Amino acid sequence: MTPDVGYDQLAAHYHRRYAVNRLEGVAALLRGLARELSAVCSLEVGCGTGRWLAGLAALGGSVTGLDYSSGMLSQAQALRTPGELVRGQAGELPFAAGAFDLVFCVNALHHFPDRARFVAEARRLLRPGGALCIVGLDPRAQPASWYLYTYFPGTREADLARFASVGQQLDWMVAAGFERAAWQVAERIDQTLAGRAVLGDHFLTKQGTSQLALLSDDAYQAGLARIEAALAAAEARGETPSFPTRLVMNAVVGYAPPYLASMRAMR
Ligand SMILES: C[S@@+](CC[C@H](N)C(=O)[O-])C[C@H]1O[C@@H](n2cnc3c(N)ncnc32)[C@H](O)[C@@H]1O
Repeated sequence: MTPDVGYDQLAAHYHRRYAVNRLEGVAALLRGLARELSAVCSLEVGCGTGRWLAGLAALGGSVTGLDYSSGMLSQAQALRTPGELVRGQAGELPFAAGAFDLVFCVNALHHFPDRARFVAEARRLLRPGGALCIVGLDPRAQPASWYLYTYFPGTREADLARFASVGQQLDWMVAAGFERAAWQVAERIDQTLAGRAVLGDHFLTKQGTSQLALLSDDAYQAGLARIEAALAAAEARGETPSFPTRLVMNAVVGYAPPYLASMRAMR
C-alpha cells in the first residue's frame, strides 16, 4: 500500500522547491529525449504543478499532463502551464493506444499504487519507437547523504520501501515489452547548508517534501528539536554544523518496439 502524501494540501507550497533547485539535469535529459524521438506528442504522468511540461512545449510539440490531485492541477493552471491538463490515475490512462511519442514521469512513480500497471499502460500509449522515461530519487545510490534522513529517523527506510530500485524498474519495462531499457544518472544534488541557515530550508518545512509530509506532527517536531539541539551543541563548542543534501536522481528509459525500424524510417 502506497502511503498517501495528500498532494491537495501540499499543492500551494510545492512549486517553491524549484526556486531552490530547478533540477536542470532532469530538464536537459527530457529535452534531449524529446529531440531524439522528434517528439510531437508528450505525456507526463504525475505532472504536479507542471515544471517539466513548459520546457518540452518550448521545443514545439504538444504536451499533456495527467495528475490525480486537483490541487496540483489547479496550481499548474495558475502557473500557466502549457498544454492539456487531465485529472486521472496512473494505472488507467484515458488516452488512445499509440497516441504519444514520449511518456514520462518525474518524482512520481513511488506514489503510484501499481507501478507495473503504469509501465504497461505507458507501453500501450506509445507509438512504435516511442519512449518511456521514469525519473526519480534513488535512496540506494551513493552518496545518499541527506540531513533529513539523519534528523528524522525512519525517513530513509520509508524511502527504501517507497522507491523502486533501478533493477525493478528495468524488470517492469522488459515485462511490458520495452526494448533497450537502460538507466543513467539524471541529476546529482549536492548542497550543504551551514549552521542556522538550515532553519530556512524549504525542504525542512512539513509541506516541503513527501518525506516529512508523511510524518506525524510529533515525529516532525521531534526532528526539528534534534536539529535545534545539534545547532546549540555545536555553537557551544564554537563550531558551525553542516547539513548536507547529497542525492542522486536516476532516469530509466525504455523504447516501444520496433525501435530500430522506426529510427530508420525517421532518417
Ligand atoms: C512529487 S510530485 C511530482 C510532480 C512533478 N512531476 C514534478 O516533478 O514536479 C508527485 C505527483 O504525482 C501525483 N500522483 C501521485 N499518485 C498518482 C497517481 N496514482 N496517478 C496520477 N498522479 C499521481 C501527485 O498528485 C503529485 O502531483
